[in-house]
Amino acid sequence: MKFQGSDAYVATPDLMLAVNAAITLKRPLLVKGEPGTGKTMLAEQVAQALGMPLMQWHIKSTTKAQQGLYEYDAVSRLRDSQLAGKGDESVKDIRNYIVKGVLWQAFTAEQPVALLIDEIDKADIEFPNDLLRELDRMEFHVYETRELVKAVHRPVVFITSNNEKELPDAFLRRCFFHYIKFPDAETMRAIVDVHFPGLKKELLAAALKNFYDVRNLPGLKKKPSTSELLDWLKLLVAEDIPIEALQSKDDKVAVPPLVGALLKNEQDVTLFEKLVFMQRHNR
Ligand SMILES: Nc1ncnc2c1ncn2[C@@H]1O[C@H](COP(=O)(O)OP(=O)(O)OP(=O)(O)O)[C@@H](O)[C@H]1O
Ligand SMILES: [Mg+2]
Repeated sequence: MKFQGSDAYVATPDLMLAVNAAITLKRPLLVKGEPGTGKTMLAEQVAQALGMPLMQWHIKSTTKAQQGLYEYDAVSRLRDSQLAGKGDESVKDIRNYIVKGVLWQAFTAEQPVALLIDEIDKADIEFPNDLLRELDRMEFHVYETRELVKAVHRPVVFITSNNEKELPDAFLRRCFFHYIKFPDAETMRAIVDVHFPGLKKELLAAALKNFYDVRNLPGLKKKPSTSELLDWLKLLVAEDIPIEALQSKDDKVAVPPLVGALLKNEQDVTLFEKLVFMQRHNR
C-alpha cells in the first residue's frame, strides 16, 4: 500500500512521504495548510489510488465526537412505543434506535476504508480529546447495548485543519503531521496542467506572474490560493481575455482583469489599486 500521486492530483515528494509514513505508522495523518491547497482533495485522491472507499465526516462548530460513533434516537423510540401495539417487539430492542456514525461504519466496513475527518478545528476544543481513544485503539463502547465496537480493518485516517484553533498535545502525539506548503511556481504549473491541459504557455506564464504579484503583496488580508487561481484561469479562458490584458508594457504591476476571483474583500482590492497607482506615478 503506497501512495504515489495521481493523474488528477499533484503531490510533492514530501507529501507522498508523509502519506506513506502515516500509513506505515498506522496513525492518522494530520494535514494543515492554507485554504484551497488541496487538503480535502488529498484524502479523496489517496483513497482512490489505494482502491479504498472514502468515508467523510465534515466537522462543524456544533459537531460532537459522539455523533461520529453513534446516536441513540430516544425520540423515535418514544413515539413508536406510543403508536405501537403491545406485542410490538421492535420497540423493545434498543438496538433498533441506535444510529451508527461515520466511525462505526468505517470500523465495521467489509473492506479497509479511508476516513476523512475534515476541518477538525471547526469543532469545540473538547472534540479532538474526545476522540483520542477511539482513534488510537480503534474501538469504543456502546453504553446502551453494552457492546464493544472494534475496527475489523484499521481505516486510513486523514484529519484536516485550517488552524482556527490549536489542537491539544495529547491529540497531536497520536498523529503524523504534514503542512502543505503553498505551491511554488513550478508545482503550480503542474497543478494548472492537471486542470487545464491545453492552456497556452504564454497565457499561463502571464497569469502566474499576475497571481504571484497579487499574492506577494504585503498586508493582504486574504491571499488567493490554488483554488482561486484555478477559478480565475477558468474565467480568463471562458471570457477569452487576450494575453495583452495580463501584461503591462513597462513590467509594472497592474490590476488584473476579473480580479474578483483572486481578491475577496474590498480592503485588499483598495490596497492593490493603491500600489498600482503609486508605481505608475513612481512614488
Ligand atoms: N495538488 C493539487 N493538485 C490538483 N488540484 C489541486 C491541488 N491542490 C488544490 N487543487 C485544487 O484546488 C481545489 C481546492 O482543494 P481542496 O478543497 O482540497 O482544498 P482545502 O485545502 O481542503 O481547502 P479548505 O481548507 O478551504 O477546505 C481542488 O478542488 C482542486 O481543484
Ligand atoms: Mg477542505
